[in-house]
Amino acid sequence: MSNILLINNKIEEFDKEIVVSGDKSLSIRWVLLASQAIGKSRGYNLLMSEDVVAALEAIKKLGIRVLVRKAHCEIYGKGINNFKYKNGLVINAKNSGTLGRLILGLLIKSPKKIKIIGDKSLSKRDFSRVTIPLEKFGAKFYYKVKNRLPLSILGSQSLSGINYIENKGSAQCKSSVMLAALNSSGTTFIKAKKSRNHSELLFKYLKIPIKIKKTKKYDFININKPKKINAFNYKIPGDISSSAFFMVLTILTDNSRLLIKDVNINPSRAGVIIILKKMGAKISLRNKRNYRGEKISDILIQSSKNLKSINCPSELNSSAIDEFLIIFLAAARAKGTSYFKDMSELNQKESPRLNWGSKILNMMGIKTELTKNSIKIYGQPNLEIKKTIIIKNYLKDHRIFMMSTIAALTSGGEWKIHNKDSINTSFPSFLKIVKNISSKSL
Ligand code: S3P
Repeated sequence: MSNILLINNKIEEFDKEIVVSGDKSLSIRWVLLASQAIGKSRGYNLLMSEDVVAALEAIKKLGIRVLVRKAHCEIYGKGINNFKYKNGLVINAKNSGTLGRLILGLLIKSPKKIKIIGDKSLSKRDFSRVTIPLEKFGAKFYYKVKNRLPLSILGSQSLSGINYIENKGSAQCKSSVMLAALNSSGTTFIKAKKSRNHSELLFKYLKIPIKIKKTKKYDFININKPKKINAFNYKIPGDISSSAFFMVLTILTDNSRLLIKDVNINPSRAGVIIILKKMGAKISLRNKRNYRGEKISDILIQSSKNLKSINCPSELNSSAIDEFLIIFLAAARAKGTSYFKDMSELNQKESPRLNWGSKILNMMGIKTELTKNSIKIYGQPNLEIKKTIIIKNYLKDHRIFMMSTIAALTSGGEWKIHNKDSINTSFPSFLKIVKNISSKSL
């Protein structure tokens, strides 16, 4: 089967209900924390994508028993840092920055060197953002190229809490330090710029000693070593980052309506809803509920003609960090010029997404003004593409593939989008859902 997706027709109107797969951040965190609990934990609706399977493989290599059953996954944890492994262990984090960075926190006490490797995209990404705080705990790192994968970690046996200021708004850095704190005597103090708070909510739910004081820009987090973590069952809610592609698909398709069931709308993740609504999109939340500290809802989206441009407040950046590519596509079809600023973190993702977002919009005939950390997008509400657009060599960034697919289905033209298999990273059923909505085969 070809690995290139060809699209040369816009999607026709639809009225559908869908579910998207489980949240990637929560799936990886459940796997890592269940490996530290005592006894059998069950995970339901776990995202079975390459990133999460890589997390399961990683804990298996560390001596933890994992059973993937039809309806759920079982992890038989043996307690904090109770890993068993041979000399020369290599863990492959594949494409996952979250796995690569969080697992280093978990390995803070490893008595033997463990090597972490990743794919081409992950090997280009910066690891100093986690090695610097983890070195403060006493860990040692060994590299071929400084601060890049492959790297090896050698843990420290006398761990005590550290003081750490997280200034990028990176949940991966914050969570890596939080996992290291599980092994450390004394208190770890973290001052963290706002970012997704799934780790904090899970720590609270698991009764790990954690205190959080919130201010407008920062969270002040104190963590102490727990005596133990009890096994826990968890049903992973739907991923808002996956849902976002279908929100914009619906907004940009005339006479259409979509209900996405059971989505995690944790406020530290729901920036996309606020931004799209500010642009005039018709989105409403139904059946809101709480689950173990997380907020869940069904999301109803309707076609939204007359989208307005936005001067996006940068306080919303971290809560929409994985959704900007698809938000840029909405801005490309809005009336007026949109402006997104303080976006340097976007170029630190699976691919340099700020640059790629601009490049794809330019290929579509949309004018942009790009700097190192901002983009202006000159919207064209009536855009009709008439040419062929080829998307390739984008480091197999799953979200570039999905953004391009939605652009093709809503803006016309003939699209050849390479590396269809990139969706396996975060959303293997993406094209099946597109097909179900469009009732046409792709
Ligand atoms: C994630 C945090 C974000 C996000 C990534 C998942 C997480 O990265 O982009 O897809 O699960 O903690 P940063 O922490 O680098 O912002």
